Amino acid sequence: MASLPKPIATVAWRPLRTADVPYVAALEAQIHVAPWTPGNFRDALAAGYSAQVGEREGRILAFGVMMLAPGEAQLLNLSVVPDARRQGLGRALLSRFLQDALRMGADQVFLEVRVGNTPAIALYEDAGFVRVARRADYYPPDASGLREDALVMRRELSPNFR
Ligand SMILES: CC(C)(COP(=O)(O)OP(=O)(O)OC[C@H]1O[C@@H](n2cnc3c(N)ncnc32)[C@H](O)[C@@H]1OP(=O)(O)O)[C@@H](O)C(=O)NCCC(=O)NCCS
Repeated sequence: MASLPKPIATVAWRPLRTADVPYVAALEAQIHVAPWTPGNFRDALAAGYSAQVGEREGRILAFGVMMLAPGEAQLLNLSVVPDARRQGLGRALLSRFLQDALRMGADQVFLEVRVGNTPAIALYEDAGFVRVARRADYYPPDASGLREDALVMRRELSPNFR
């Protein structure tokens, strides 16, 4: 039997605004083990980091933050709400950040991800990131007191990347 086409979640992408912070931080708290606080989001905005949300019918479904430094960028946050996953939003937001990084003159992008975060690692590898290092016990202890290693991943950018 032919497989059904994947649903496509269309969203409008726009910059994260200060007024979004309480809502986005509440989503963040539901999504991440060690979530960013509202203050972390406000600091990112104050520092001028690239911060984006994807919204549909007034509801934010995806958000992320990327820090730009001379020559390189660091992806700090990439999140999709659980009921909108596997519809291409993570890939679309990542692609927007890579395009932004390139436009701002970066020639590489770094990120850190938990070694056990299979969906995110699959997304990043699919987008051309490669593993460059592993940081032991990098993340703070979770509810059971366990720490987790981080993978450091890197993606080279070139003007004609897809
Ligand atoms: C990681 C995350 C952002 C992916 O978002 P998403 O919108 O579901 O991802 P996409 O639908 O764009 O998937 C793109 C590709 O990533 C990979 N992928 C995504 N989720 C996956 C999963 N659960 N298992 C395996 N591969 C997965 C696949 O290669 C997928 O391509 P395909 O659907 O054509 O097979 C999302 O799962 C999430 O928000 N997780 C919690 C927050 C998080 O861990 N963020 C990353 C921190 S570093």
